[in-house]
Amino acid sequence: QEQTTLVTQNQLFYGTFIYPKTLTELEYLYNTAVAVDQNGTIVAIKRDCDLSQATSTLLPRLGWAPNSVTIHSSSDSHNQFFFPGFIDTHLHAPQYPNVGIFGKSTLLDWLETYTFPLEASLSDPAKARTVYNRVIRKTLSHGTTCAAYYATKDVTTTNLLADLCLRAGQRALVGRVCMDQLSPDYYRDASAADSVAATRESIAYIQSIDPTGAIVRPVITPRFAPSCSAPLMADLGKLAAETGLPVQTHISENEGEIDLVRELFPAKKIGAKGDTYTHVYDTFGLLTDKTILAHGVHLSEEEVEIIKARGSKVSHCPCSNSALASGAARVRWLLERGVEVGLGTDMSGGYSPSVLEAARQAALVSRHVAMGCASVEKGSKGSKANKDGIDRERAKLTVEEVLYLATKGGAELVGMKGRVGGFEVGMEWDVQLIGLGRDVADGEYEGEEKEEEGNVDVFGWESWPDRVAKWVYNGDDRNTRKVWVKGRLVHERK
Ligand code: GUN
Ligand code: FE
Repeated sequence: QEQTTLVTQNQLFYGTFIYPKTLTELEYLYNTAVAVDQNGTIVAIKRDCDLSQATSTLLPRLGWAPNSVTIHSSSDSHNQFFFPGFIDTHLHAPQYPNVGIFGKSTLLDWLETYTFPLEASLSDPAKARTVYNRVIRKTLSHGTTCAAYYATKDVTTTNLLADLCLRAGQRALVGRVCMDQLSPDYYRDASAADSVAATRESIAYIQSIDPTGAIVRPVITPRFAPSCSAPLMADLGKLAAETGLPVQTHISENEGEIDLVRELFPAKKIGAKGDTYTHVYDTFGLLTDKTILAHGVHLSEEEVEIIKARGSKVSHCPCSNSALASGAARVRWLLERGVEVGLGTDMSGGYSPSVLEAARQAALVSRHVAMGCASVEKGSKGSKANKDGIDRERAKLTVEEVLYLATKGGAELVGMKGRVGGFEVGMEWDVQLIGLGRDVADGEYEGEEKEEEGNVDVFGWESWPDRVAKWVYNGDDRNTRKVWVKGRLVHERK
């Protein structure tokens, strides 16, 4: 349908580059040139040079004629730097119109009151087109270069979401939502068989519009255990094994939900080896090394061990967990057990489309965990018992760590490990240009020069780590000047 030209020119980026090297450490590259080829792949990097040195040495080496290369520089005078694009590992595209609207609800009544009616209404293609276009534009403007989307149970408009992501150039996993029980009559699959057939139809369509899956890919999406029958989950587990496709669902978000799962799926009835939420998914083959589990707020030691053994990953959704009063997820505890973690906005359980906001809230929630606010089973290691002050310190996530989760951590969840998240030869150019505005010390903007600077004031004395911290705690989409995916410019702030 609406095809995209993904091939761009050869490009040379010059200036300051910052990226998460490891969980705890950011790499800073100054006066650096990064060459990106027509496929959007980084093919050369030259450090500590000026732009003319970079062009005179790199371009001949690459065999690129100078007039065939587009050059982009970050502006030092405006505190600009290149940073990897954000990965939103969990959000609901159809729920975007409801951001911020949740009152005092918690998960189960929130679904009934706010969410199911809105999602059902998006089977109207005109409405879906408007909402989905807005979600894509809005998340791109916040630097989200890749998103793991839940659509709705409707196949036509789920496919439309994939079309629109492809056209806009936003990488996306797009999931047709499966739900065949315990949901209202007006918004429920008629049977497990219908649900699987609709899922297969959507998978086939999404694979047909982007056969290599470079930009959009399908994802098997059982909404969550309470809204899926045992036969449906079993069939979706088989589908995951048959196709090798990723899986996404929710787990252990809310205490009422966990009780419901225990009631609906007793271990004996489903032949599970244990009676936890995690055992339910595991029994049906839904825990693979490509499974994204959202929330995981109330998981036990036993559950995390199973998740780790299966190689499944967790999407941490702090904005949502606070908004719906679900609880404080223990990210350090997950990381220390070897589980890979990314960040999710979980719009509209989460109130914001911004992964930067999720990163900031991840930092704050980790301090609530440090203060003893997490839900912890009795006898759990490294958690409630730590009134000694040591593990409390450990629970806190740093600026570097939340930025890692927002980029490289997320890449592990969406199957892009090693492909995005850094400035290294061979990686793809999924990048945002961040600008914090001019140093206050340089004087006020005049006339034409005045621009929308955003919420960050840089005084001029700050180190680069200080500047990055200011961005994390006070930045917003006004600081996101340009965004590229696979080398293609997909957003520019005018
Ligand atoms: N659990 C089942 N469906 C949903 C949803 O749409 N959002 C959240 N946050 N949790 C869910
Ligand atoms: Fe969600």
